[in-house]
Amino acid sequence: MRTQVGIIGAGPAGLMLAHLLHLRGIETVILESRQREAIESTIRAGILEQSTVDLMVETGVGERLKREGVPHHGTILRFGGRNHRIDFQGLTGGRVTTLYPQHEVLKDLIAARLQVGGEIRFGTKVTAVSGLDSKQPVIHFIGADAADSRLHCDFILGCDGAYGVGRAAMPDGLRQDYQRIYPFGWFGILCKAPPSSEELVYARHDRGFALISNRTPDVQRMYFQCDPNDKIENWSDDRIWSELQARVQGGDGFRLIEGEIFQRNIVPMRSYVCEPMQHGRLFLAGDAAHTVPPTGAKGLNLAISDVFLLDRALGHHYATGATDLLDGYSAAALRRVWRAQHFSWWMTSMLHRADGASAFDDRRQLAELDLVTGTVAAATSLAQNYVGLPFG
Ligand code: PHB
Repeated sequence: MRTQVGIIGAGPAGLMLAHLLHLRGIETVILESRQREAIESTIRAGILEQSTVDLMVETGVGERLKREGVPHHGTILRFGGRNHRIDFQGLTGGRVTTLYPQHEVLKDLIAARLQVGGEIRFGTKVTAVSGLDSKQPVIHFIGADAADSRLHCDFILGCDGAYGVGRAAMPDGLRQDYQRIYPFGWFGILCKAPPSSEELVYARHDRGFALISNRTPDVQRMYFQCDPNDKIENWSDDRIWSELQARVQGGDGFRLIEGEIFQRNIVPMRSYVCEPMQHGRLFLAGDAAHTVPPTGAKGLNLAISDVFLLDRALGHHYATGATDLLDGYSAAALRRVWRAQHFSWWMTSMLHRADGASAFDDRRQLAELDLVTGTVAAATSLAQNYVGLPFG
């Protein structure tokens, strides 16, 4: 088998890149270990930055997003028992975020690929990559027919997440790992209830952080900071609700609307960057190259901004033969990645309560929240970062 760009992984990065390259007439094959049904039914967060929405709409995969995505014109920071609103639209000259869950993005991108005859091989297991220093690197995989196969290509794109073959193929002597593990996790629930708030609520409380998000008019997503080693079985529904209610409680009488909890999970919190994001003819994008804690809602958007750069670089290469944009990919992508890393770390540390935090730490945290919600300069900084820096 041969193609121009071999893509490992049908997540947001791999699918969006295949779509963008197709518009330039560049051929791709995507190899994906999971089945289509599994990908399309795994429920993930989906706060899309303005540039992500713009790119999807401009390239013809934003029809359903425009219809069903819910714009969020601002967000609530809750502390001291009351709400403080950050007005994204007013502070950023009209930029907003849009709530549209990740699996909906994936459904739209898969449909767009298949509609134009694009190749996505579901249920294939990539075992290795080779020839990264040559002009014809190879992806080795076991196909759905269980046969050992090879995909010869001009370039290999590792869009296969934190545990994929792509990152592992970055040579030890070259690769630098930058990592931070947080001493807490998020206990997440999905419940059947109407929204308790129209906008997301990021709450800081002495008992720890809580986030009130939503999915649909009838399904809500909520989280509270927990011990990352805690067990789901330790939490009865009553205990979950009383913890969530305690963390948002305040003098304004705000209460969460409770409902049947039908999914529970514990999310670990980690920041990670792999440098560089390329080696020879292998390029990494999305979670294969970096992880952010979910507090800043940046994960999906970083995957899309990586492939925005790769699409331009590959397009330029196939049109002119030049390699300057490809050679500069890692440096260009990492600049935005590190800005998002800083933002996600900062939001996390401003809102979570570390074990052993002192009274001084608590007061300092509240002063920081007061600065962010009480001054235009600091509120604008949060708003600009949350709605997202421009791509490229
Ligand atoms: C979510 O809806 O799951 C969600 C929203 C915002 C975040 C993280 C997760 O920052």
